[in-house]
Amino acid sequence: MSKVVILGVFVADTAYRAARAPRMGETIMGESFALGPGGKGSNQAVASAKAGAETHFITRLGRDTFADMALKTWADAGVTPVITQHEDGYTGAAYIFVEAATGNNAIIVCPGVAGSICPADIDARADLIGNAAVFVTQLEQPMDAAMRALQIAREGGATTILNPAPAATLPDGMLALCDYVTPNETEAEALTGIAVTGLEDATRAAARLTEMGARAVVITLGENGALYYGAGQNVHVPAFNAGPVAETTGAGDAFNGGFAAALATGMEPVDAVRFGCATASISVTRPGTAPSMPSLSEIKALLARN
Ligand code: RIB
Ligand code: NA
Repeated sequence: MSKVVILGVFVADTAYRAARAPRMGETIMGESFALGPGGKGSNQAVASAKAGAETHFITRLGRDTFADMALKTWADAGVTPVITQHEDGYTGAAYIFVEAATGNNAIIVCPGVAGSICPADIDARADLIGNAAVFVTQLEQPMDAAMRALQIAREGGATTILNPAPAATLPDGMLALCDYVTPNETEAEALTGIAVTGLEDATRAAARLTEMGARAVVITLGENGALYYGAGQNVHVPAFNAGPVAETTGAGDAFNGGFAAALATGMEPVDAVRFGCATASISVTRPGTAPSMPSLSEIKALLARN
């Protein structure tokens, strides 16, 4: 089977649902709390595995309760962990404020020991990365590790996906290593300086990202789906209605995991974007991030209805 290999971070998501965020110095009462598995890379790996791809996830963990949560999450989802565990650091956590009325979120990530993933960690996994059908990374672990992994993946002939989240300034040459770069609207603006408020801006930002070196671009547009730009095509793929929205946290991860899994089966890019949008559209109808990722049969059923 064609492998999806993902580099990234696992954290425990601590989600606080409240009417609004507290102001500095203020204490407010929340509506509910939930603890669950998260981290962009890990969420993407869970989404990819549940969508049917053989998925390997490279990261660092501590040796603590949240590490146990990570290992159980991957075992349940069918993700193969490619990890080292460290006594001298902790498994990270994220603070997630969920706005009760909308399900929208604001997040602080502390990656813990995964914040020390370094190029030597990547070199130790060069065979796996070089033999991937699809390689994916985000930017919660250090930039030099992401850069090294993209280089090895490109040299090995993998299809490379960079999900540039959280928004950051990229080193020279990084976009040229990307078959796909998949920012959301905020990240697309951070990378290009073009404010993305609609399809026209998104198209301009995507075009700019290809000029900056990416082969193709997918800008995820929240409830408006995604824009695919590349190989002479410019296609808007709307989101699917899979039911009422419970929580949008992790929707981008659902998209990236589903998209990667679809590409690994040899699907054409626009169809893979549609598959990724279906994955994300189901995930937002459920609370949590990794726990909300749909199975392949759920994704297929939604695609068949549309
Ligand atoms: O993309 C959503 C994820 O971002 C959450 O799971 C949180 O852990 C942060 O890393
Ligand atoms: Na969700």
